[in-house]
Amino acid sequence: MSRGVLKKWGVCLVLFFLFSACKPESAPPLPPVEEEGRFSPESLVQFGRRVVFGTDRPVLNEGGRLPVGKGQCAFCHMFVAGQKSDRCPDLRNVEARSNQRPKEDRYRKFSEKFGDSGEPKTGMKPHAVSGGEYLIESLYCPSCYMPEGQGPKGAVGMKSAMPVMTAPPMALSDYEIVSVVAYLQEKDTPGDYSRVTAKQDWEHYFGKKLSLPEKAPDGFPGNEATLKKTALGTDTPDVIIEKMGCFVCHKIPTVSLARTGVIGPLLVLKTNAQKRIASPEYQEALREDRVKATTPKEYVRESITHPGAFVVEGFSDAMPTDYRRKFTVGALEKLVDFLLTLDEELAMQEERERFGEVEEEEEEEEERPGSLRGRE
Ligand code: HEC
Ligand code: HEC
Repeated sequence: MSRGVLKKWGVCLVLFFLFSACKPESAPPLPPVEEEGRFSPESLVQFGRRVVFGTDRPVLNEGGRLPVGKGQCAFCHMFVAGQKSDRCPDLRNVEARSNQRPKEDRYRKFSEKFGDSGEPKTGMKPHAVSGGEYLIESLYCPSCYMPEGQGPKGAVGMKSAMPVMTAPPMALSDYEIVSVVAYLQEKDTPGDYSRVTAKQDWEHYFGKKLSLPEKAPDGFPGNEATLKKTALGTDTPDVIIEKMGCFVCHKIPTVSLARTGVIGPLLVLKTNAQKRIASPEYQEALREDRVKATTPKEYVRESITHPGAFVVEGFSDAMPTDYRRKFTVGALEKLVDFLLTLDEELAMQEERERFGEVEEEEEEEEERPGSLRGRE
């Protein structure tokens, strides 16, 4: 073999171990796309709350006022009982109310009035068809609709006292407005993101795709929410196991959190990975091209990223199937290497110690053999 060929294969092998680049079928995917994280309902809501209040935890001060962020909403609107606010619409339960607004007879009058030349200040024509679109429209064009009770009775087409949010001084970007609306959609049912459709509402209302701001605005959470749910190369194996919930189903020797799971097998892959591969069932699956692993490392990696490909005898196909989207490449390698250091002997020793009611043992801080840390 020529040196060139050898070199090529060498590079390929190195790449294979680092990224599985030479075997795309079983390669772990790229880390979750940043964009996806930033458009996730959790991220939008969190950022929206910051735009509204300037903080993640708005609390009433002694004077009954809420903190005010870039959007300045709480100067005028009421968000919680006991809050001093001006005579603008109460924004408690605004999500439920928003769904009714476009259906109001009065809304039809506004959209007729501004149907030809648009609302004078913004040129926009009221055309919301859903609650989310109504909320979006309210921020781009406050005068496009004023609910009953705002302005003189019966008057249609008055100028709203609410500033256009895209104009100075607020000058909110499209992304910020979508985030604020996401927050409005979540705030009445905290933690329930099922009504958070702000991005889709925006895209339907304007008939184009929402893009990320070129530069991260102040207070931009990035994809913090997503990162909390992603296994990272900088996490320790214990942290990965905790974040990913492996301990719910698996007993994992040396991991104090993972002592009770019985839905999946005891994870002693140093003992078992090779046995699994050698089993007639796995060999058959290999011939039928349902699985790909020929080494313990590949087997463990495959078990995590494609759990349904081979189901260990005596267990059901119950393992979550979305881990391949939740691990970065580095995290997967780290966890796989860690799991391959655990054998039956270790598990038995641990059982014996626990059986003997040994004191809650000292936390093992020392580097585990096989951890990738040394190589990074
Ligand atoms: C200077 C005071 C002021 C500020 C600041 C302000 N608003 Fe308003 N807002 C109003 C007034 C007045 C109305 C009622 C007239 C109208 O519909 O335009 C209104 C209406 C609304 C409505 C429609 C409510 C309904 O029941 O139909 C929404 C939603 C809303 N505002 C959200 C916001 C949000 C979110 C912010 C901050 C990003 C904000 N407003 C900032 C004064 C304000
Ligand atoms: C909801 C329960 C559940 C969770 C959570 C879960 N697993 Fe599993 N796992 C199973 C079951 C059931 C099996 C056996 C069936 C199969 O092979 O798919 C299994 C099999 C495995 C195997 C093959 C074990 C062997 O002995 O061949 C590995 C490796 C594994 N899981 C690792 C993990 C890791 C790592 C995590 C966390 C990132 C995890 N599992 C999370 C249920 C789970």
